[in-house]
Amino acid sequence: MAARMTRRAFCGALAGTAGLAALPLRAAGPQTLTARVATAQIAPPHYAATEVWSYDNTLPGPTLRVPQGGRVVRRLINDLPVPTSIHWHGIRIENAMDGVAGLTQEAVPPGGTFDYDFTVPDAGTYWYHAHTNSFEQVARGLSGALIVEEAEAPEVDRDAVLVLDDWLLTPEDAQFMEPFGHPMSLSHGGRFGNLLGTNGTFDFARDVNANARLRLRLINASNARIFVLQLAGLDGWTVALDGMPLPAPEPVAAELILAPAQRIDLIVDVTAQDGDTAALLRLDDDDQWRPQARFPVHGKASATRRDPPSALPPNPHMTVSGIDSARRLELAMEGGAMGRMSGAMMHGRSMGFREMAQQGQFWALAGQVGMTDTPFAQLDRGETVRVKLTNDTAFPHAMHLHGMHFRQVTEDGSLGPMRDTILSYPNAPLEIAFVADNPGQWLFHCHMLGHAASGMTTWINVS
Ligand code: C2O
Ligand code: CU
Repeated sequence: MAARMTRRAFCGALAGTAGLAALPLRAAGPQTLTARVATAQIAPPHYAATEVWSYDNTLPGPTLRVPQGGRVVRRLINDLPVPTSIHWHGIRIENAMDGVAGLTQEAVPPGGTFDYDFTVPDAGTYWYHAHTNSFEQVARGLSGALIVEEAEAPEVDRDAVLVLDDWLLTPEDAQFMEPFGHPMSLSHGGRFGNLLGTNGTFDFARDVNANARLRLRLINASNARIFVLQLAGLDGWTVALDGMPLPAPEPVAAELILAPAQRIDLIVDVTAQDGDTAALLRLDDDDQWRPQARFPVHGKASATRRDPPSALPPNPHMTVSGIDSARRLELAMEGGAMGRMSGAMMHGRSMGFREMAQQGQFWALAGQVGMTDTPFAQLDRGETVRVKLTNDTAFPHAMHLHGMHFRQVTEDGSLGPMRDTILSYPNAPLEIAFVADNPGQWLFHCHMLGHAASGMTTWINVS
């Protein structure tokens, strides 16, 4: 009897093997993301291809899609000539997987690997990018979209990820202009590209059907550019910001502001007619609206106008309670060109602005230049915190907190949408609040990446 069972089990196993052998061969082992040098035709075809740093040879990196509550398991293989690491921007992740070189992990040396393995609690539009010398590595192309899918996604005809970026290229041969950390850009608004585009090309276009309903996932992957956007031949609703669903869809504003690292999810209907081109437009420095993404329209409008979409299902833990009794902190942003800062603390000693500048540092957060041994704030797990952000500089800053989302506390005490990156304008203080429910060491920095590299990076500890 036992022998017969064994034999049957054996035959079954054999049959299984035969079946598998008929499948095309697939590499065994973990899924990977390989950071490596590649070329990409970002600029118009009469220019050379640009040498970029890529994930898996593509610009932007591959779009990762994972169901809400699922796991992202990726082995980073570093084929670059420099150390690197990956940060999963906006994911309320476990600290050890946050990818911050020097804080949550060692940078992965050339030839090395690191296994990222984490669950994704929240549905929405997120992204991943290098977090080692980000001001250079992200500018060279090391970023991609990370889409966490709702169990029941809203009904749309097309789900389109639009990674907005700009690239600063030499006009002669379309290679990245160096140095990446030029004192002029560090101390001013940051590194702005002279070529703008979407999904790795200057003239991104996708055909759409008349009357189609699209979900557009806008991601600003640029180093410093604040995109000002408008829809043409498209009409609809904003349904999520920085991955987090709005309580109700909101009609798209006349102008959408998308600061570095921010995301906006739109659900829009194509209102342009057959033969026209719908578009996402951006406002350029010369005050002209130009296409950031084009959608040539085909086919006759069939269905009549559809009902507005319902709200996306909320993510867990979106409530920021205990605002009134919350601990209050203040984070002053200071420095930069045309600023008033005379100096700040750097590596434990006070330093004048000129001496800071000689070391390539131009900014301070709460009086400190760059990373400190002790955190800006030591928080108890679960406590609610309010942080007042004062911008005493001549530039806007896109402040990003790792590990937790926050809400803006508006003047009248009501709470704004849940975000992970907020745009702060000069002399317009604002306040954010969050529940410190994710233990670990979390960066809090400006996502104008040159600013982050020249002083605007601090951290908090939650334990
Ligand atoms: Cu998008 Cu500190 O990162
Ligand atoms: Cu900044």
